[in-house]
Amino acid sequence: MDRTFLEELNKRRTFGIISHPDAGKTTLTEKLLMFGGAIQMAGAVKAKRAGRYATSDWMTIEKERGISVTTSVMKFNYNGFEVNLLDTPGHQDFSEDTYRVLTAVDSALMVIDSAKGVEPQTEKLMEVCRMRNTPIMTFINKLDRDGLSPLDILADIEEKLQIECAPLSWPIGMGKRFRGVYNLYHRQLHLFTAGGQTRHQEGVLITDLADPRVDEMLDSQAGELRDDVELLEGAANPFELDQYLKGSQTPVFFGSAINNFGVRELLDAFVEMAPPPKARATTTRMVSPEEPAFSGFAFKIQANMDPAHRDRIAFVRICSGKFTRGMKVFQTRVGKPVTLSNATIFMAQDRTHVDEAYPGDIIGIHNHGTISIGDSFFEKERLSFTGIPNFAPDHFRRVRLENPLKAKQLLKGLTQLAEEGAVQFFRPMSGNSYILGAVGVLQFDVTMARLKAEYGVDAAYEPVTFAAARWVTSDDRKQLEAFEKDMYASLAHDSQGKLAYLASSLWRLENAMEEWPGIDFHKTRELA
Ligand code: G4P
Repeated sequence: MDRTFLEELNKRRTFGIISHPDAGKTTLTEKLLMFGGAIQMAGAVKAKRAGRYATSDWMTIEKERGISVTTSVMKFNYNGFEVNLLDTPGHQDFSEDTYRVLTAVDSALMVIDSAKGVEPQTEKLMEVCRMRNTPIMTFINKLDRDGLSPLDILADIEEKLQIECAPLSWPIGMGKRFRGVYNLYHRQLHLFTAGGQTRHQEGVLITDLADPRVDEMLDSQAGELRDDVELLEGAANPFELDQYLKGSQTPVFFGSAINNFGVRELLDAFVEMAPPPKARATTTRMVSPEEPAFSGFAFKIQANMDPAHRDRIAFVRICSGKFTRGMKVFQTRVGKPVTLSNATIFMAQDRTHVDEAYPGDIIGIHNHGTISIGDSFFEKERLSFTGIPNFAPDHFRRVRLENPLKAKQLLKGLTQLAEEGAVQFFRPMSGNSYILGAVGVLQFDVTMARLKAEYGVDAAYEPVTFAAARWVTSDDRKQLEAFEKDMYASLAHDSQGKLAYLASSLWRLENAMEEWPGIDFHKTRELA
């Protein structure tokens, strides 16, 4: 095995941030990029958010997406590690992409607002991480403000997210009384200074908290720290690397992203502990990143910013082997070879052409709609990666076609947009309409705008009373037939003809699941 290849592989860290809007993801991203030297000043990533849009104006969407293309993958180097941070869109642009990005990472960083604890979007994203036992590192943010007690936050995480917490640092006070953190792992005391620097501030090594220097530095709060640490030693879970790597334990850090406090420690621990690229499952075998032959899969597709050009960028995560410009690979679904000549790697600010990339890296491939979400690319074999599914939508709309003569274009447009992962559609077994399903409501605006711009289809939405969708299967054919007969009015086929149950409320869904124990209800569907 080529030594440089192994070195390159082992220094890759590919991750995403899971958080609820406003917890501090953007601020933390910015600080991480500053440490990585990828940006010089705060504000660069934030500028992206300038247009928190809620409009269906096509150009606005395009403009916003144009900017988000460059921030979809942020690559930086830190302490000799090559870090790829994949953006998990939040706020209004929360969509199925957000979930799917998490299928392309090797680990995740969870940011929690200390005043709010675990919030709904974090819970949803965590569910996706759990599907693959993704290792999660936790950063409790905004300690410069008054929030919940650290123990309550840990209890909240353990209860709501069903993951064991192992604190590696511990805060000393909070809000106005916030004095800093004690690193339990390195036994170092870090004192808080507001508006902190990116420059490395060494903590003070305190091996024994009885050390009188602790009193000098913390005055009356020294006792609090001693009590807390004593309590933790008895009650907290000790950190175990293998439990973290299995996704059953999360190491926890405390800090304040905006003050740049605790971020460096977090990043140091992250590059050391977070896993390099892992083996991935295909329909027939596991593919190890060390295999010399190239392989990868598309997890996100971005339409071009310029509506005059129909080309798209497919974001491909490299799973094994080395990518070299111009290499020929086999696109399994299509059954044809493709030449990867026009690949791009995404930097924080800019897109630059690359000649080489390694497992864990993301390359962008330009195409004209020939690549679908979940497509696999192999240099030598014809395999298909699994685990890049569709996720059950939470929002629904019925499409009303303004001009019935455009029915064919509508179907074509919806089929292509579904393949791209922009939206999902369902055809109810009763009636002749299309129901669109999305994880984030902005997907509806984008779909409508693109149907008009790219397929010349004028359509409108009508509200529908669906609250949840589940793909249904059963090993028992008789049960399935009975279910289909009984639930006919609530059943639909998706864009690939798979059977789905559309429930008008979560209560009804639960009811159906209880009533039909022989039927399996799935929240995800593997892409064929
Ligand atoms: P997001 O991407 O997760 O949505 O969060 P973002 O970083 O935008 O942060 C949300 C708000 O929280 C921002 O304030 C940000 O300045 C603030 N924030 C982030 N980290 C900290 C922290 O450590 N302490 C405190 N006190 N606040 C923090 P905003 O008023 O919404 O935006 P802005 O006007 O500051 O840009």
